[in-house]
Parts: sequence; structure tokens; C-alpha cells
Amino acid sequence: MITINQAIQQSKFNSEYHKLAVNLFYTTSWLSGQHQHLLKPFGISMQQFNILRILRGQKGNPLSVNCHSVQYDRNGDGRIEKGTDLVLQTLFDEWQDYRKQGGAASCVDCHMPVAKGARAAESALIPLEQDAEAPPRTLRSHRFIAVDYPIDKPTVIAATRAEREALLQRAAELKLDPRTLAISDSRMSFDVSIKNVGAGHNLPGGFAFVRQMWLEVTLLDARGALLAASGQVIQPSDDLCDGAILDESESSVRELLSRCTATNRQLVSFQQMLVEQNRAAPRRGGARAARLRNEHASGRRRLEGSVVQF
Ligand code: HEC
Repeated sequence: MITINQAIQQSKFNSEYHKLAVNLFYTTSWLSGQHQHLLKPFGISMQQFNILRILRGQKGNPLSVNCHSVQYDRNGDGRIEKGTDLVLQTLFDEWQDYRKQGGAASCVDCHMPVAKGARAAESALIPLEQDAEAPPRTLRSHRFIAVDYPIDKPTVIAATRAEREALLQRAAELKLDPRTLAISDSRMSFDVSIKNVGAGHNLPGGFAFVRQMWLEVTLLDARGALLAASGQVIQPSDDLCDGAILDESESSVRELLSRCTATNRQLVSFQQMLVEQNRAAPRRGGARAARLRNEHASGRRRLEGSVVQF
């Protein structure tokens, strides 16, 4: 094997460190030359080859597994137990259960809806290297449509609203069972069942500590006038304009939130302190709603039975 001195025909270096650096540069360039030579017959670049290797390493797994299966066996007993071990995200496991039960959709099917427009690869022709056309592909939204959206990008909020609403409306089926309606004194109660019919994992999804849903119930008379309501936001500005967040002078979202003047119905902070436990309609004394038992609908994929009583 030749030495670096022979390879570049130079015998003097400022230091051993300098010699090492030159050697590394030389070797890197030699190796990539070899690689390019090997890849040439296949018409792919080093970067494309690198991506293919990454994908191969993930074969059989959707890429989402790395982000959406986050659990740590704290006591090292080889089992993951909620309450003992750190369980941050189990969506991937839940999605596998959904598939076992016959669910057909992938994460991409639900969270990256088919979009209109030209392929992103259209403008990505690399002169001389890539003279073939990109293969035809179905174009999908890369905004990962779900409950969350970036609150600092009003155009994205507006552009994704319809897709977000469509996804959420498909997620659950709400049924009010009239047979459970009971009225006694000033109390009224009934059962509402929420069934997960459209999420490919438990409902609601997300990180362990944000898996909560809020059910808002309004009671109207025959003419549509409000009789009573439960689970409503007290003030129109009581969504993410939460004092606790606004008091943090360092918070990067502070400036965005101080402008909240009306309830953003898609952006309600689910903190109980913000929600009126029960609210009787003005001038309708009789309809005073009683205790609110609005339980978090987390856990099971199919949630049936009595969830909310008021
Ligand atoms: C059959 C459709 C469907 C499939 C398949 C599906 N999801 Fe969902 N996902 C939903 C719906 C509907 C919601 C919104 C309701 C909720 O929060 O569960 C959601 C919510 C989420 C959330 C919470 C998002 C947020 O904005 O807070 C995450 C994270 C998520 N999904 C990840 C995944 C991953 C990862 C996969 C695949 C392993 C997947 N989903 C597969 C329908 C689906």
C-alpha cells in the first residue's frame, strides 16, 4: 500500500496533524470516487444511494415508528408497564393492533391526504445527472394533517382547516341514547357514547400527556334557543390566551396569543380551569346543569357506554 507522501508526491507536512488531515481528505475523495464508479451503471447519485440505504434499514417499518413508539423500560425487566416504565407514545403499537383487527389504512393514507398540483420532483431535474423523468406519483400533503397545526403560520392554519375538520369528523361517532335521559328536580342526565370509527389507533392520539378530548354539550329548545350548556369555554378569549402562558415573558408564543380576542374553536386549551363546569342559560332558571363528569376518553380504541353526564 502506498503512503500519503507517495500518493500526493509530497514529503513535507507542517505537523502530524496536518498530514492526518490531508490523508483523510485524500482517502475520502478516493472512496467516493470508487463509490461513484460503482453507482454509475445504476444512474444514481451518492445522496440517492444513502437515502435508499436508510430506507432499507427501516424495511417493513413505516418511518413513523421512530417518532411514534416512544417507551423506555425503566426498571429493565424486559416489559413495558404503564405507571412503572416511561410510556410517551404508543401510537405505532396501537396502529399495529388496528391492522390486526382488519384496519387497512396506513399513517400516510389518513395523515397525508391526496393533494392537487404538480409533483415536487418536477423542478428537481439535475442537469446531466438525471435525464430520466421522475416516475408518476400520487401527490400528498406533507403537512401531516391532524389536530395540531403551527399556530404561528396563519396561512397554513387556513389552508389545512378543511382537511383537519374532515379527518376529525371521520374519527368518531357520537350517539346520544334517548333511553338514558333522566330528569329529576333541577338535574338532567343522559349518556353520550363516543365510538372510535376513523382513527387508526386509540382515540384521541398523540403524546401520553396530551391524550384528552373535550365534549361540549348544548341543550336547545324547539326554536333553537340555548337552554343549557356543558363543557363550554367561559370567555371567548379563554382558549390559548391562557394567563399562565401570557405571563411567561420568554414564551415564543406569547406574542401570538395576546391577540386572541375570540374563541378559536379549533384551538382550545383543554385545561379544566378554562371550562365552565356548568352553565345555565340566562333567564332560564330551571335548566341548571349539575356536576360535570366529563371524563377523558383515552385508553381503549372503542369507547362505548356512558362517557359524559351532566
Ligand atoms: C384510519 C385513519 C388513521 C390512521 C391509519 C392513522 N391515524 Fe393518526 N389520527 C387519525 C385521526 C382521525 C386523528 C385525530 C383524532 C385523534 O386525536 O386521535 C389522529 C391523530 C393522530 C395524532 C395526534 C395528532 C395531533 O395533531 O395531536 C398522531 C401523532 C397520529 N395520529 C399519528 C399516527 C401514526 C404515527 C399513524 C401510523 C402508525 C397513524 N396516526 C395512523 C387517523 C388515523
